[in-house]
Amino acid sequence: MFDIGGVTIKNRVVSAPMAGVTDRAFRILAREHGCGLVFTEMISDQALLYGSPKTNVLLDCRGENGPIAVQIFGSNEEYMQRAAEIIAGRGADIIDINMGCPTPKIVKNGEGSALMKNPGRAAGIVAAVVSQVSCPVTVKLRKGWDEDSVNAVEVALAVVEAGAAAITMHGRTRSQFYSGEADWGIIKKVCGTVNVPVIGNGDIHSPEDAARMLQETGCQAVMIGRAAMGNPWIFSRTLHYLATGELLPGPTPEMRRETAVRHYLLLVETKGEYLANREMRKHLAWYTKGLRGSARLRGKINSGSSFEFFTREFWELLQEEQ
Ligand SMILES: Cc1cc2nc3c(=O)[nH]c(=O)nc-3n(C[C@H](O)[C@H](O)[C@H](O)COP(=O)(O)O)c2cc1C
Repeated sequence: MFDIGGVTIKNRVVSAPMAGVTDRAFRILAREHGCGLVFTEMISDQALLYGSPKTNVLLDCRGENGPIAVQIFGSNEEYMQRAAEIIAGRGADIIDINMGCPTPKIVKNGEGSALMKNPGRAAGIVAAVVSQVSCPVTVKLRKGWDEDSVNAVEVALAVVEAGAAAITMHGRTRSQFYSGEADWGIIKKVCGTVNVPVIGNGDIHSPEDAARMLQETGCQAVMIGRAAMGNPWIFSRTLHYLATGELLPGPTPEMRRETAVRHYLLLVETKGEYLANREMRKHLAWYTKGLRGSARLRGKINSGSSFEFFTREFWELLQEEQ
Protein backbone atom coordinates (compact mmCIF):
# COMPACT_ATOMS: atom_id res chain seq x y z
CA MET A 1 0.00 0.00 0.00
CA PHE A 2 1.21 3.52 -0.71
CA ASP A 3 -0.14 6.98 -1.05
CA ILE A 4 -0.15 9.48 -3.93
CA GLY A 5 -1.08 12.94 -2.64
CA GLY A 6 -3.73 11.52 -0.30
CA VAL A 7 -5.04 8.84 -2.69
CA THR A 8 -4.42 5.36 -1.29
CA ILE A 9 -3.06 2.82 -3.75
CA LYS A 10 -3.73 -0.63 -2.35
CA ASN A 11 -0.67 -2.38 -3.78
CA ARG A 12 2.49 -1.83 -5.79
CA VAL A 13 1.35 -3.01 -9.22
CA VAL A 14 0.13 -0.43 -11.72
CA SER A 15 -1.18 -0.67 -15.29
CA ALA A 16 0.51 1.66 -17.83
CA PRO A 17 -1.29 4.21 -19.99
CA MET A 18 -1.35 2.89 -23.58
CA ALA A 19 -3.11 4.71 -26.40
CA GLY A 20 -5.38 2.36 -28.32
CA VAL A 21 -5.22 -0.25 -25.55
CA THR A 22 -6.05 0.86 -21.99
CA ASP A 23 -9.66 1.82 -22.46
CA ARG A 24 -12.51 1.09 -20.04
CA ALA A 25 -12.73 -2.60 -21.06
CA PHE A 26 -9.01 -3.16 -20.50
CA ARG A 27 -8.99 -1.28 -17.20
CA ILE A 28 -11.95 -3.23 -15.78
CA LEU A 29 -10.10 -6.49 -16.45
CA ALA A 30 -6.81 -5.09 -15.09
CA ARG A 31 -8.59 -4.15 -11.88
CA GLU A 32 -10.32 -7.50 -11.60
CA HIS A 33 -6.81 -8.94 -11.63
CA GLY A 34 -5.92 -6.79 -8.67
CA CYS A 35 -4.09 -3.86 -10.23
CA GLY A 36 -3.68 -1.08 -7.63
CA LEU A 37 -3.89 1.83 -10.06
CA VAL A 38 -4.94 2.11 -13.70
CA PHE A 39 -4.28 4.86 -16.23
CA THR A 40 -6.41 6.00 -19.16
CA GLU A 41 -5.02 6.43 -22.64
CA MET A 42 -3.44 9.85 -23.17
CA ILE A 43 -5.95 12.58 -23.99
CA SER A 44 -5.15 15.82 -25.81
CA ASP A 45 -5.75 19.04 -23.87
CA GLN A 46 -7.15 20.71 -26.96
CA ALA A 47 -9.48 17.84 -27.82
CA LEU A 48 -10.87 18.16 -24.29
CA LEU A 49 -11.38 21.89 -24.67
CA TYR A 50 -13.16 21.46 -28.02
CA GLY A 51 -15.34 18.74 -26.49
CA SER A 52 -14.45 16.29 -29.25
CA PRO A 53 -16.81 13.28 -29.06
CA LYS A 54 -13.85 10.89 -29.09
CA THR A 55 -12.64 12.27 -25.77
CA ASN A 56 -15.92 11.23 -24.17
CA VAL A 57 -15.09 7.63 -25.00
CA LEU A 58 -11.55 8.08 -23.67
CA LEU A 59 -13.01 9.47 -20.44
CA ASP A 60 -15.64 6.77 -20.07
CA CYS A 61 -15.07 5.09 -16.73
CA ARG A 62 -18.62 4.01 -15.87
CA GLY A 63 -18.71 1.37 -13.18
CA GLU A 64 -14.97 1.37 -12.53
CA ASN A 65 -14.15 1.18 -8.84
CA GLY A 66 -10.88 2.21 -7.39
CA PRO A 67 -8.42 4.91 -8.25
CA ILE A 68 -7.99 5.98 -11.86
CA ALA A 69 -5.35 8.32 -13.25
CA VAL A 70 -6.45 10.27 -16.30
CA GLN A 71 -3.52 11.23 -18.51
CA ILE A 72 -3.42 14.43 -20.53
CA PHE A 73 -0.86 15.82 -22.94
CA GLY A 74 -0.18 19.31 -24.21
CA SER A 75 2.34 22.10 -23.96
CA ASN A 76 0.33 25.20 -23.20
CA GLU A 77 -0.12 26.04 -19.51
CA GLU A 78 -3.53 27.59 -19.88
CA TYR A 79 -4.97 24.82 -22.07
CA MET A 80 -3.56 22.17 -19.75
CA GLN A 81 -5.07 23.95 -16.77
CA ARG A 82 -8.51 24.10 -18.37
CA ALA A 83 -8.28 20.51 -19.58
CA ALA A 84 -7.36 19.38 -16.06
CA GLU A 85 -10.32 21.24 -14.64
CA ILE A 86 -12.69 19.43 -17.02
CA ILE A 87 -11.21 16.06 -16.09
CA ALA A 88 -11.28 16.75 -12.36
CA GLY A 89 -14.95 17.62 -12.78
CA ARG A 90 -15.51 14.18 -14.35
CA GLY A 91 -14.19 12.39 -11.28
CA ALA A 92 -10.52 11.61 -11.99
CA ASP A 93 -8.71 10.56 -8.81
CA ILE A 94 -5.33 11.60 -10.19
CA ILE A 95 -4.35 13.72 -13.19
CA ASP A 96 -1.21 12.52 -14.94
CA ILE A 97 0.78 14.66 -17.35
CA ASN A 98 2.45 12.92 -20.28
CA MET A 99 6.10 13.89 -20.79
CA GLY A 100 7.07 10.63 -22.46
CA CYS A 101 5.23 10.21 -25.75
CA PRO A 102 7.86 9.96 -28.53
CA THR A 103 5.55 10.20 -31.57
CA PRO A 104 6.73 12.82 -34.11
CA LYS A 105 3.30 14.45 -34.48
CA ILE A 106 3.19 15.01 -30.71
CA VAL A 107 6.77 16.16 -30.12
CA LYS A 108 6.71 18.57 -33.04
CA ASN A 109 4.16 20.57 -31.04
CA GLY A 110 6.44 20.62 -28.00
CA GLU A 111 4.23 18.01 -26.26
CA GLY A 112 4.95 14.59 -24.73
CA SER A 113 8.67 13.79 -24.48
CA ALA A 114 9.57 17.17 -26.07
CA LEU A 115 8.95 18.59 -22.60
CA MET A 116 12.04 16.69 -21.40
CA LYS A 117 14.04 19.24 -23.42
CA ASN A 118 12.45 22.09 -21.55
CA PRO A 119 12.39 21.54 -17.76
CA GLY A 120 11.22 25.12 -17.15
CA ARG A 121 8.16 24.66 -19.31
CA ALA A 122 7.52 21.21 -17.83
CA ALA A 123 7.53 22.68 -14.32
CA GLY A 124 5.36 25.62 -15.43
CA ILE A 125 2.69 23.26 -16.76
CA VAL A 126 2.69 21.21 -13.55
CA ALA A 127 2.44 24.33 -11.37
CA ALA A 128 -0.43 25.66 -13.48
CA VAL A 129 -2.37 22.39 -13.29
CA VAL A 130 -1.69 21.91 -9.57
CA SER A 131 -3.03 25.38 -8.83
CA GLN A 132 -6.27 24.58 -10.68
CA VAL A 133 -7.35 21.20 -9.32
CA SER A 134 -7.61 19.67 -5.87
CA CYS A 135 -6.72 16.09 -6.85
CA PRO A 136 -3.06 14.99 -6.99
CA VAL A 137 -1.13 15.70 -10.18
CA THR A 138 1.54 13.24 -11.34
CA VAL A 139 4.02 13.19 -14.22
CA LYS A 140 5.27 10.42 -16.50
CA LEU A 141 8.85 11.00 -17.65
CA ARG A 142 11.44 9.42 -19.88
CA LYS A 143 15.16 9.18 -19.16
CA GLY A 144 15.82 12.20 -21.39
CA TRP A 145 15.56 13.22 -25.03
CA ASP A 146 18.57 11.20 -26.15
CA GLU A 147 21.72 9.65 -24.68
CA ASP A 148 23.49 13.03 -24.91
CA SER A 149 20.85 14.77 -22.86
CA VAL A 150 19.89 12.43 -20.03
CA ASN A 151 18.15 14.75 -17.57
CA ALA A 152 15.39 12.79 -15.84
CA VAL A 153 16.74 13.69 -12.39
CA GLU A 154 16.69 17.40 -13.20
CA VAL A 155 13.19 17.27 -14.70
CA ALA A 156 11.90 15.13 -11.83
CA LEU A 157 13.19 17.62 -9.28
CA ALA A 158 11.68 20.53 -11.20
CA VAL A 159 8.22 18.99 -11.50
CA VAL A 160 8.17 17.83 -7.86
CA GLU A 161 9.16 21.33 -6.80
CA ALA A 162 6.21 22.54 -8.91
CA GLY A 163 3.85 20.25 -7.00
CA ALA A 164 3.86 16.80 -8.67
CA ALA A 165 2.71 14.18 -6.17
CA ALA A 166 4.42 11.21 -7.87
CA ILE A 167 6.64 10.43 -10.83
CA THR A 168 6.45 7.53 -13.25
CA MET A 169 9.90 6.89 -14.64
CA HIS A 170 10.22 5.05 -17.98
CA GLY A 171 13.89 4.17 -18.36
CA ARG A 172 14.22 4.97 -22.07
CA THR A 173 15.15 8.12 -23.95
CA ARG A 174 12.85 9.60 -26.56
CA SER A 175 15.31 8.49 -29.27
CA GLN A 176 14.83 4.89 -28.23
CA PHE A 177 11.05 5.01 -28.69
CA TYR A 178 10.20 1.50 -27.36
CA SER A 179 13.33 -0.35 -28.50
CA GLY A 180 16.57 -1.17 -26.73
CA GLU A 181 16.65 -1.95 -23.05
CA ALA A 182 15.07 0.23 -20.38
CA ASP A 183 17.69 1.64 -18.02
CA TRP A 184 16.62 0.81 -14.49
CA GLY A 185 19.65 2.71 -13.14
CA ILE A 186 17.93 6.00 -13.95
CA ILE A 187 14.83 4.84 -12.04
CA LYS A 188 17.04 4.20 -9.01
CA LYS A 189 18.64 7.65 -9.34
CA VAL A 190 15.28 9.39 -9.47
CA CYS A 191 14.06 7.35 -6.48
CA GLY A 192 17.10 8.47 -4.55
CA THR A 193 16.50 12.12 -5.38
CA VAL A 194 12.82 13.01 -5.03
CA ASN A 195 10.67 12.86 -1.93
CA VAL A 196 7.50 11.62 -3.65
CA PRO A 197 6.62 8.07 -4.76
CA VAL A 198 8.32 6.87 -7.94
CA ILE A 199 6.65 4.27 -10.16
CA GLY A 200 9.26 2.35 -12.16
CA ASN A 201 8.50 1.41 -15.75
CA GLY A 202 10.08 -0.40 -18.66
CA ASP A 203 10.63 -4.02 -19.65
CA ILE A 204 8.68 -5.85 -16.97
CA HIS A 205 7.76 -9.07 -18.76
CA SER A 206 7.17 -11.38 -15.80
CA PRO A 207 6.39 -11.38 -12.06
CA GLU A 208 10.09 -12.00 -11.39
CA ASP A 209 11.03 -8.88 -13.38
CA ALA A 210 8.63 -6.84 -11.25
CA ALA A 211 10.17 -8.12 -8.02
CA ARG A 212 13.64 -7.40 -9.38
CA MET A 213 12.75 -3.84 -10.36
CA LEU A 214 11.30 -3.12 -6.91
CA GLN A 215 14.40 -4.52 -5.27
CA GLU A 216 17.05 -3.04 -7.56
CA THR A 217 15.63 0.47 -7.88
CA GLY A 218 13.81 1.08 -4.59
CA CYS A 219 10.75 2.28 -6.53
CA GLN A 220 7.43 2.49 -4.73
CA ALA A 221 5.51 0.57 -7.42
CA VAL A 222 5.98 -1.03 -10.81
CA MET A 223 4.08 -0.11 -13.96
CA ILE A 224 3.45 -2.82 -16.56
CA GLY A 225 2.68 -1.93 -20.18
CA ARG A 226 3.15 -4.21 -23.16
CA ALA A 227 3.29 -7.41 -21.11
CA ALA A 228 -0.34 -6.81 -20.13
CA MET A 229 -1.68 -6.79 -23.69
CA GLY A 230 -4.02 -9.77 -23.92
CA ASN A 231 -2.63 -10.76 -20.53
CA PRO A 232 -4.35 -9.30 -17.45
CA TRP A 233 -3.01 -12.35 -15.56
CA ILE A 234 0.35 -10.57 -15.43
CA PHE A 235 -1.17 -8.37 -12.69
CA SER A 236 -2.63 -11.16 -10.53
CA ARG A 237 0.41 -13.39 -11.01
CA THR A 238 2.76 -10.53 -10.09
CA LEU A 239 0.74 -9.66 -6.98
CA HIS A 240 0.74 -13.31 -5.93
CA TYR A 241 4.47 -13.63 -6.54
CA LEU A 242 5.26 -10.46 -4.56
CA ALA A 243 3.11 -11.67 -1.67
CA THR A 244 4.23 -15.31 -1.53
CA GLY A 245 7.29 -15.90 -3.74
CA GLU A 246 5.25 -18.52 -5.60
CA LEU A 247 5.01 -18.30 -9.39
CA LEU A 248 1.52 -19.22 -10.60
CA PRO A 249 1.16 -20.83 -14.03
CA GLY A 250 -0.03 -18.70 -16.95
CA PRO A 251 -3.66 -18.88 -18.10
CA THR A 252 -5.09 -22.03 -19.66
CA PRO A 253 -6.60 -21.81 -23.18
CA GLU A 254 -10.06 -21.90 -21.57
CA MET A 255 -9.22 -18.95 -19.30
CA ARG A 256 -7.99 -17.01 -22.32
CA ARG A 257 -11.22 -17.72 -24.19
CA GLU A 258 -13.42 -16.66 -21.30
CA THR A 259 -11.49 -13.45 -20.68
CA ALA A 260 -11.20 -12.53 -24.37
CA VAL A 261 -14.97 -12.93 -24.80
CA ARG A 262 -15.57 -10.82 -21.72
CA HIS A 263 -13.16 -8.20 -23.05
CA TYR A 264 -15.15 -8.13 -26.29
CA LEU A 265 -18.49 -7.77 -24.46
CA LEU A 266 -17.06 -4.89 -22.41
CA LEU A 267 -15.87 -3.24 -25.64
CA VAL A 268 -19.35 -3.58 -27.14
CA GLU A 269 -20.85 -2.09 -23.99
CA THR A 270 -18.36 0.81 -24.06
CA LYS A 271 -18.09 1.63 -27.76
CA GLY A 272 -20.83 -0.21 -29.62
CA GLU A 273 -20.49 -3.23 -31.87
CA TYR A 274 -18.94 -1.58 -34.91
CA LEU A 275 -15.89 -0.19 -33.08
CA ALA A 276 -15.67 -3.23 -30.81
CA ASN A 277 -15.35 -5.48 -33.86
CA ARG A 278 -12.45 -3.45 -35.23
CA GLU A 279 -10.65 -3.01 -31.93
CA MET A 280 -11.08 -6.60 -30.76
CA ARG A 281 -8.92 -7.87 -33.63
CA LYS A 282 -5.66 -6.79 -32.03
CA HIS A 283 -6.73 -7.88 -28.54
CA LEU A 284 -7.73 -11.31 -29.84
CA ALA A 285 -4.35 -11.73 -31.55
CA TRP A 286 -2.69 -10.91 -28.20
CA TYR A 287 -4.97 -13.18 -26.15
CA THR A 288 -4.28 -16.16 -28.39
CA LYS A 289 -0.56 -15.58 -29.01
CA GLY A 290 1.32 -18.84 -28.69
CA LEU A 291 -1.76 -21.09 -28.80
CA ARG A 292 -1.61 -23.83 -31.39
CA GLY A 293 -3.14 -22.73 -34.70
CA SER A 294 -3.47 -19.08 -33.68
CA ALA A 295 -0.84 -17.87 -36.16
CA ARG A 296 -2.69 -19.65 -38.97
CA LEU A 297 -5.92 -17.93 -37.93
CA ARG A 298 -4.39 -14.44 -37.93
CA GLY A 299 -5.92 -13.60 -41.34
CA LYS A 300 -9.37 -14.57 -40.07
CA ILE A 301 -8.88 -12.45 -36.93
CA ASN A 302 -7.94 -9.45 -39.05
CA SER A 303 -11.16 -9.62 -40.99
CA GLY A 304 -13.40 -10.61 -38.06
CA SER A 305 -16.38 -8.30 -38.07
CA SER A 306 -19.31 -9.73 -36.16
CA PHE A 307 -20.54 -10.47 -32.67
CA GLU A 308 -20.87 -14.14 -33.67
CA PHE A 309 -17.27 -14.28 -34.85
CA PHE A 310 -15.74 -12.91 -31.65
CA THR A 311 -17.96 -14.79 -29.23
CA ARG A 312 -18.25 -18.18 -30.97
CA GLU A 313 -17.04 -18.77 -34.54
CA PHE A 314 -13.39 -17.90 -33.92
CA TRP A 315 -13.22 -20.20 -30.91
CA GLU A 316 -14.69 -23.09 -32.87
CA LEU A 317 -12.06 -22.57 -35.58
CA LEU A 318 -9.34 -22.50 -32.92
CA GLN A 319 -10.72 -25.68 -31.39
CA GLU A 320 -10.42 -27.43 -34.76
CA GLU A 321 -6.71 -26.58 -34.79
CA GLN A 322 -6.06 -28.46 -31.54
C1 LIG B 1 0.77 0.90 -27.89
C2 LIG B 1 1.37 1.78 -26.82
C3 LIG B 1 0.72 2.95 -26.48
C4 LIG B 1 1.26 3.78 -25.48
N1 LIG B 1 0.57 4.91 -25.14
C5 LIG B 1 1.03 5.67 -24.09
C6 LIG B 1 0.26 6.78 -23.62
O1 LIG B 1 -0.85 7.08 -24.09
N2 LIG B 1 0.79 7.50 -22.59
C7 LIG B 1 2.00 7.19 -22.02
O2 LIG B 1 2.43 7.88 -21.09
N3 LIG B 1 2.72 6.14 -22.44
C8 LIG B 1 2.26 5.37 -23.44
N4 LIG B 1 2.97 4.26 -23.82
C9 LIG B 1 4.17 3.89 -23.08
C10 LIG B 1 3.86 2.90 -21.94
O3 LIG B 1 3.05 3.52 -20.96
C11 LIG B 1 5.17 2.40 -21.26
O4 LIG B 1 5.86 3.53 -20.76
C12 LIG B 1 6.08 1.67 -22.24
O5 LIG B 1 5.36 0.75 -23.03
C13 LIG B 1 7.19 0.93 -21.46
O6 LIG B 1 6.66 -0.02 -20.57
P1 LIG B 1 6.64 -1.61 -20.94
O7 LIG B 1 8.06 -2.01 -21.26
O8 LIG B 1 6.09 -2.29 -19.71
O9 LIG B 1 5.76 -1.77 -22.15
C14 LIG B 1 2.47 3.44 -24.84
C15 LIG B 1 3.12 2.25 -25.21
C16 LIG B 1 2.59 1.42 -26.18
C17 LIG B 1 3.32 0.15 -26.53
